[in-house]
Amino acid sequence: MIMLGDRVVLVTGATGGLGRVVVKRFLAEGAKVAAVYRSEDKLKDLKDYVGGSPALSGFKADVTDARSVASMVEAVVKEHGRVDVLLNIAGGYTGGKLLNEAEETALDQMVTLNTKSAYLCSRAVLPGMIERNYGRIVSVSAKNATPRGRRAGNIAYAISKGGVITLTEALAEEVSKNDITVNCVMPGTIDTADNREKMPEADTSKWVSPEDIASVILFLSSDASKAVSGASIPVFGKS
Ligand SMILES: NC(=O)c1ccc[n+]([C@@H]2O[C@H](COP(=O)([O-])OP(=O)(O)OC[C@H]3O[C@@H](n4cnc5c(N)ncnc54)[C@H](OP(=O)(O)O)[C@@H]3O)[C@@H](O)[C@H]2O)c1
Repeated sequence: MIMLGDRVVLVTGATGGLGRVVVKRFLAEGAKVAAVYRSEDKLKDLKDYVGGSPALSGFKADVTDARSVASMVEAVVKEHGRVDVLLNIAGGYTGGKLLNEAEETALDQMVTLNTKSAYLCSRAVLPGMIERNYGRIVSVSAKNATPRGRRAGNIAYAISKGGVITLTEALAEEVSKNDITVNCVMPGTIDTADNREKMPEADTSKWVSPEDIASVILFLSSDASKAVSGASIPVFGKS
C-alpha cells in the first residue's frame, strides 16, 4: 500500500469516468481530495459514488479559463492550506474526421481543453509547491499521442495530448532542483461506462481499467516515485 498521509490532492476531471475512480482510490489511501467540478449534480454523483467521505470537498472551475483556475486554487489553499499533488485529469475528445474534412475549430478546442487546462492548473499550483519545495503533478495524455497510437481522424486530439507530454517533460526540467516531480500517463481506451455506450461492438478486453490507471497515478503522486520526473508512462491495457 502506498500511503499518502494527509496530502492535499487537487483533482481536475474528478466527476468523469477516470476521475471518479482516482478520487475514490486516493480517499481510500488517506488523502484529502479537492475535486474540481462544473455541475452540482455531478459533484453530488461523485460524493455518492465515494460514499460521502468527509475528506472530499468540491471546487467549481472551468479549467480552460485562467481566472477561474486562479480563484479555484486560491479557494483550495484557503480551505486546505496547500496543494501537495495536482492531478490534471480533465480533458475530452473530438475527432473522427480526416484533416481535409475537419472543422477549423477542432484544433483550438482540443488544445484548449486538453493542453491549456493542464498548463493553467500546473501554473496556478506551482508557486506554492516551489515555496514549500514539495509537489507532485500528474497529467493524463493518451496513447493516441504516441507512435503506437496513431489513428486516422485523430490529429487535433493527438496534437493536444502530445502537448501534455511536452508540458510534462519541459516542466519537469524547470523544477528539477526542487522536490517537485512532473509526470504523465498515456492511457489506451479506458473501460468507462461512457466508452461502453459509445462503442458497443468494441473488444473491451483490450481496454485499460480506470482502477489500473489510478494505481499508476497513485504511485506517481507518492513519495515512492520521488526519483521519477519527466516520464510519460504507457497505460495501454492490452491494446
Ligand atoms: N476515455 C478514454 O478512453 C481516454 C483515453 C485516453 C485518455 N483519456 C483522457 O483521460 C482523461 C479522463 O477521461 P474520461 O474518460 O474520464 O473523460 P470524461 O468522463 O469525459 O471526464 C472528463 C472530465 O473533465 C471535466 N471537464 C471537461 N471540460 C472541463 C472544463 N472546461 N472545466 C472543468 N472540467 C472540465 C468533465 O467535467 P463535466 O463532468 O462537468 O463534463 C469531467 O469531469 C481525459 O483527459 C481524457 O482525454 C481518456
